[in-house]
Amino acid sequence: MAKRVAIGTNKGGDGKSATAVRLTEALAQGQLPSGRRPRIGVVDMDPQGNASRRLGWVDTGKQPTVNEAIKADTKGAAADLWQPIGWTAEFAERIVLLPARLTLENRIKEAGETGAWRRLSKALKGADDHLDYILIDCHSQFSHLTQLALAAAHHTLSSSQADLDSLNSARRYRDFVVERGEDLANDDLDWLGVILSQVDSRNSGEVQQVKNARELFGEEKVWGIVPRMTLLHYADEDAKPLCQVRDSTRARAPWELLAQRFIKEVPAR
Ligand SMILES: Nc1ncnc2c1ncn2[C@@H]1O[C@H](COP(=O)(O)OP(=O)(O)O)[C@@H](O)[C@H]1O
Ligand SMILES: [Mg+2]
Repeated sequence: MAKRVAIGTNKGGDGKSATAVRLTEALAQGQLPSGRRPRIGVVDMDPQGNASRRLGWVDTGKQPTVNEAIKADTKGAAADLWQPIGWTAEFAERIVLLPARLTLENRIKEAGETGAWRRLSKALKGADDHLDYILIDCHSQFSHLTQLALAAAHHTLSSSQADLDSLNSARRYRDFVVERGEDLANDDLDWLGVILSQVDSRNSGEVQQVKNARELFGEEKVWGIVPRMTLLHYADEDAKPLCQVRDSTRARAPWELLAQRFIKEVPAR
């Protein structure tokens, strides 16, 4: 079984999908302690499908998605649904995707059905043994789709901007994970910490909020800081890996550090 990490916070626009995509990119180029390069699956649990698109996946409307994996309600349903991403970089072959489109919304109405919250976990059972890590990109509410992700995950990680509403949203997410893991039959689910993203170090208010975040969450829970860089936004817009964007060394650096920390704190099997 892969180590599964859900990426979430209780607010949109705070860099969840950016984290899922860029951490995946850096991890695929990283190294496990064994010297092997990690293989990563991205599960898109946001009906907006932003992570899927940014990974270069082109929706023809015909490919199966995570929606079908959950709807199947059978063990291992995801096994045949993994798809290659659309990037052409060499390391992209170590990344597979369970994409999403708007049809994922149709699963929300099943929330009241017995055991419905377990259906992603069930779909992934035995379907991720060929992978080291799965990153699950969540949407920003605590509704059924997020609960499906949390029931399937081993760990969670947040991303937040350096402002008060964002930090409060990450805190709500942390508390939800800690308090509700047990209700999702996932007692060991933990919150690894928060990545502060889109930080403008010339803005004194944001610098102060970075300090506040360290106090609020604890120094060791602030995983790292990713500066706000137009280049990162345009790489998302153009659905490109950073290695294919000119002058991206500085933009790649924080993600490489984060990937190193990730490999240390989330040991693969
Ligand atoms: N470090 C960054 N610098 C510049 N733009 C960023 C950065 N991180 C994210 N963005 C942009 O901010 C917007 C919101 O990020 P996104 O990952 O979509 O958030 P979420 O998934 O939480 O809604 C996107 O347009 C994304 O490209
Ligand atoms: Mg998103």
